[in-house]
Amino acid sequence: MKFVTLKIFLFFLFIVSLKAQIYLDPNATVEERVDDLISRMTLEEKVGQMTQAGRSFLNSENDIRDYFLGSLLSGGGSSPNPNTAESWANMYDSYQNQALSTRLKIPLIYGIDAVHGHNNVKDAVIFPHNIGLGATRNPDLIRNAAEVTAVEVAATGIDWTFAPCIAVPRDEKWGRTYEGFGETPELAELAAVAAIYGYQGDSLNEQKTIAACAKHFIGDGGTTGGIDQGNTEISEEELRAIHLPGYLKAIEAGVGTVMASYSSWNGQKLHGHYYLLTTLLKEELGFDGFIVSDWAGIDQLPGDYKNDIKESINAGVDMVMVPDRYVEFITFLKELVNENQVSIERIDDAVKRILKIKFELGLFENPLTDRSLLNLVGSQEHRNIARECVRESIVILQKKDNVLPLRKENQKIALIGKGADDIGLQCGGWTIYWQGGLGDITEGTTLLEAVKKNTDHSNVIFSENGEDLSDTDIAVIVIAEEPYAEFEGFKEDLTIPDSDVELVKKAKEAGLKTVVILYSGRPMIINPILQYSDAVVAAWLPGTEADGIADILFGDFQPKGLLPH
Ligand code: BGC
Ligand code: BGC
Repeated sequence: MKFVTLKIFLFFLFIVSLKAQIYLDPNATVEERVDDLISRMTLEEKVGQMTQAGRSFLNSENDIRDYFLGSLLSGGGSSPNPNTAESWANMYDSYQNQALSTRLKIPLIYGIDAVHGHNNVKDAVIFPHNIGLGATRNPDLIRNAAEVTAVEVAATGIDWTFAPCIAVPRDEKWGRTYEGFGETPELAELAAVAAIYGYQGDSLNEQKTIAACAKHFIGDGGTTGGIDQGNTEISEEELRAIHLPGYLKAIEAGVGTVMASYSSWNGQKLHGHYYLLTTLLKEELGFDGFIVSDWAGIDQLPGDYKNDIKESINAGVDMVMVPDRYVEFITFLKELVNENQVSIERIDDAVKRILKIKFELGLFENPLTDRSLLNLVGSQEHRNIARECVRESIVILQKKDNVLPLRKENQKIALIGKGADDIGLQCGGWTIYWQGGLGDITEGTTLLEAVKKNTDHSNVIFSENGEDLSDTDIAVIVIAEEPYAEFEGFKEDLTIPDSDVELVKKAKEAGLKTVVILYSGRPMIINPILQYSDAVVAAWLPGTEADGIADILFGDFQPKGLLPH
């Protein structure tokens, strides 16, 4: 009898403990799970959730466990060695296992800049940068590109992309012009919806979807003089008319996260801007995901680091991309709470927002990489979609009669300019490395290779400096900006450099017809080449699939691209 009672008692205890663990029950609602989990968390665990460290700055992998880190990121070029999709997956799983070894087993959310494909990963497909996608005006294609990116990201375990950038660049001197889809709010709206549905799908819970991040809130593209991280000096009316519409659509589309901008609005930094982050974004627009700060963005607030933390968290930042001084960050944030300088209500709100996205992503059920997706990284199927994007992004700026299309027979074509055979120049910044790189940095098809697929090889010569053009009929001259990202891309003068003008002139003077292909992250001043060119084609920063350019050059498809600026 006694034994039976004990058994019933134990069974009862078991049921109670199960019921108590609501947060582990996938059948409970996200709200129930969040509430249950947060009620179990210590201050230390909560503060950990709000901390995002850069993987390269981890003092030891155990710090993920010991400091209850909620998130990690790979900054531009922060890759495992060797840089293969599989080693990314291994790296991710190893970090995730640290998080899973904590008391409450709260998984990490791992973020990365997959801003034109999974661009840090070698041999992933690289799409045109957003300026080119804006030129397509094709939301279905923008969505497809984001879907493919999501699959390639998910294949490496990663849960979250810092994309789309829905900046509305108003001054093309800005080095990040190419990260925006174009200079109008309408383009930001169209692309925000398409890209967010592409990344996040109908449900974050699916194995092939990842969380998106609309960035950089707000006014990043409106700074005076196009200065990166500068000051956007405009009225509230103009801020709302030009820089806000994309965010309204992003929220409607259910974007999981928003990144604060390094820039200021009329002198006040966004990272400490209560009115814009909390009153406008969270309260007025009803954004219920979480706000992540930009890379060491809070450090730029006035005052010491502890004050930066207080200002940014109280303004509404939920997760801080530290990325290096995470121990200091955690220590100070705990102190601030104990000193009542940051309220526990604010902490709970931030943590609930973060946990909500983690539950929605299905991370508690599937924390580790789904390796069945690995063989899709850089697959032909994915490359074909990128090729379509390239094809539709092409804008013909100038064309005299009978220059295009190129002929597949009876025409000798000279490809000129180092950009004609250089994957790095095709891809631009945020490709393998933060600032991008030159040459064979990743797998892809250069324009030279693409042209050769359309005509007999004996009809094609490559002449980097335009030497020896005898015996050719037409020159295809590639003029390419050197890769750049962020502030390093700032340019006072957007005129085509003299050395490039010389190449066009040389070909013209050799008696050839001349077709200029421009690889650029922004509109350029092309006046100096117009007298020597018979056609000028804007190809933006097309990425790895130059077959899409050849499709237009050889007339297999009609050009449809429209200027995004
Ligand atoms: C950029 C962000 C990016 C972050 C992480 C920052 O410098 O402004 O766009 O998401 O770095 O790499
Ligand atoms: C990182 C980038 C980051 C930048 C900010 C770089 O070292 O790789 O991701 O955006 O620093 O300055």
